[in-house]
Amino acid sequence: MNKREKLIFKREQSKLGGGADRIESQHKKGKLTARERLELLFDKGSFEEIDAFVKHRSTDFGMEEIHYPGDGVITGYGTVNGRLMFVFSQDFTIFGGSLSETHAEKICKIMDMAMKNGAPVIGLNDSGGARIQEGVVSLGGYADIFYRNTLASGVIPQISVIMGPCAGGAVYSPAITDFIMMVEKSSYMFVTGPNVVKTVTNEEVSSEDLGGASVHGTKSGVSHINASNELEAMNKLRKLLSYIPQNCEERPPFENYTLTTNELREQLATIIPENANQPYDMRDVIEGVIDEESFFEIHKDFAENIVVGFARLAGRSIGIVANQPAFLAGVLDVKSSQKAARFVRFCDAFNIPLLVFEDVPGFLPGTDQEWNAIITNGAKLLYAFCEATVPRVTVITRKAYGGAYDVMNSKHIGADMNFAWPTAEIAVMGAKGAAEIIFKKEIGEASDPAEALKQKEAEYAGIFANPYRAAERGFIDEVILPEETRIKLIKAFKMLENKVANLPKKKHGNIPL
Ligand code: HXC
Repeated sequence: MNKREKLIFKREQSKLGGGADRIESQHKKGKLTARERLELLFDKGSFEEIDAFVKHRSTDFGMEEIHYPGDGVITGYGTVNGRLMFVFSQDFTIFGGSLSETHAEKICKIMDMAMKNGAPVIGLNDSGGARIQEGVVSLGGYADIFYRNTLASGVIPQISVIMGPCAGGAVYSPAITDFIMMVEKSSYMFVTGPNVVKTVTNEEVSSEDLGGASVHGTKSGVSHINASNELEAMNKLRKLLSYIPQNCEERPPFENYTLTTNELREQLATIIPENANQPYDMRDVIEGVIDEESFFEIHKDFAENIVVGFARLAGRSIGIVANQPAFLAGVLDVKSSQKAARFVRFCDAFNIPLLVFEDVPGFLPGTDQEWNAIITNGAKLLYAFCEATVPRVTVITRKAYGGAYDVMNSKHIGADMNFAWPTAEIAVMGAKGAAEIIFKKEIGEASDPAEALKQKEAEYAGIFANPYRAAERGFIDEVILPEETRIKLIKAFKMLENKVANLPKKKHGNIPL
């Protein structure tokens, strides 16, 4: 074999992963190989692999005899929709995708390159965790990755897709990244697995029930996006990337859009029910306002009383945060506050303007909420909005009550443009509760207390259950008809395009964690 042939041979060998049998076993589990995933993710022919010949340096347990080129992770760069992305894709067919010292070094190299070149890092995770034969050097390798994840946070977008096991301390790299996507039925994440759980707590639970995509997409919120299979996962990932910039210095991608002569959206005028206590689906408002089919929801099935996601408005990428009256009346609680706060911070870190739709009766009362620190968690959302310097616009569709009015991107905490629909009610609390408190004496002394309460309730509602008191103060910039919302928002975000806002000099703030 001459030198040229040797290189060609080595290249071919490096493409074989852990061999045909293990690839077949991977396929039997409904999983693609690390390379097949990259083919789906990147623009055709754009992927360039680096470090394909890297070998582990382990000599214990006969490991010096077993080598696979690349050592269980494929790393490199390529383009997605024409934009540069760095990637690592763990190969479960080689030592179960487990992380050795050299495997970690390859990932770190990619992360360093991504930071230098200002492009996102995507991790396709499919790994049995620390390479058991290597011990502490593997743990060191994880820590090297965690450290880089943290330094890169807010500088370049980092996205983790979990496509197999991800357990033990290994979960903490994805946890630090901006988004976690999980594939239903074939991925799981947990700090301690079912066997340890059984030993320590005596609970019997399957991997799927402990840390599958469904659990993390609904109960824990660890997964931001779930995909029903790997093809869908790669398509969703490509779509997600289309809304976000390459790094914190860039503006998000902009799609060409020419304003039509009619940007009114009549269907918005009939969404709010006559009765203020009746629910409606805030997604109808969102869909009615944004560019067609452009909503990409994050955390869709977690804390459903708030809706967050990316969308386009006249081609501009925006982040939407919206109370959802169709679920728990749209109250703010621990989980919804955490969900929205993290989304707001992502958008702010990456220059994505924020649009808030508000219909919130207040914070959810109860011991469960108080004991789970609704104070600290509600403050997260408040803090996240307060410190956001991106263009920020709010539309109050109906209720804006109490502290939640302040929290939900009010003018007072730095929002740039605040609109209200004529159906808006901006007050300290609902009319009934308010009347019961401030007219307690009169109602108690009335010959017909129920009738007196009704009258006082109507009196309070007459004064406050509208947007005009707030508009008189300039807390609302304009009261608009629902059908005008899209055009008003397009103009507002255009006006705010070059907004400059700076925070006071500091090392970093101390968000109530
Ligand atoms: C070395 C490993 C490995 C590991 C799997 N393999 N995990 N090799 N280190 N951690 C190898 C297996 O020996 C096997 O090799 C191949 O990968 C496939 O594994 P199987 O067990 O046959 O596959 P499957 O039945 O699908 O089970 C997958 C699994 C299981 C659930 C992940 O392999 C498993 O439990 N692995 C150990 C997980 C673990 O305890 N990891 C350490 C966690 S602690 P062959 O040659 O037969 O193909 C940790 C700490 C991180 O990660 C701390 C960071 C701070």
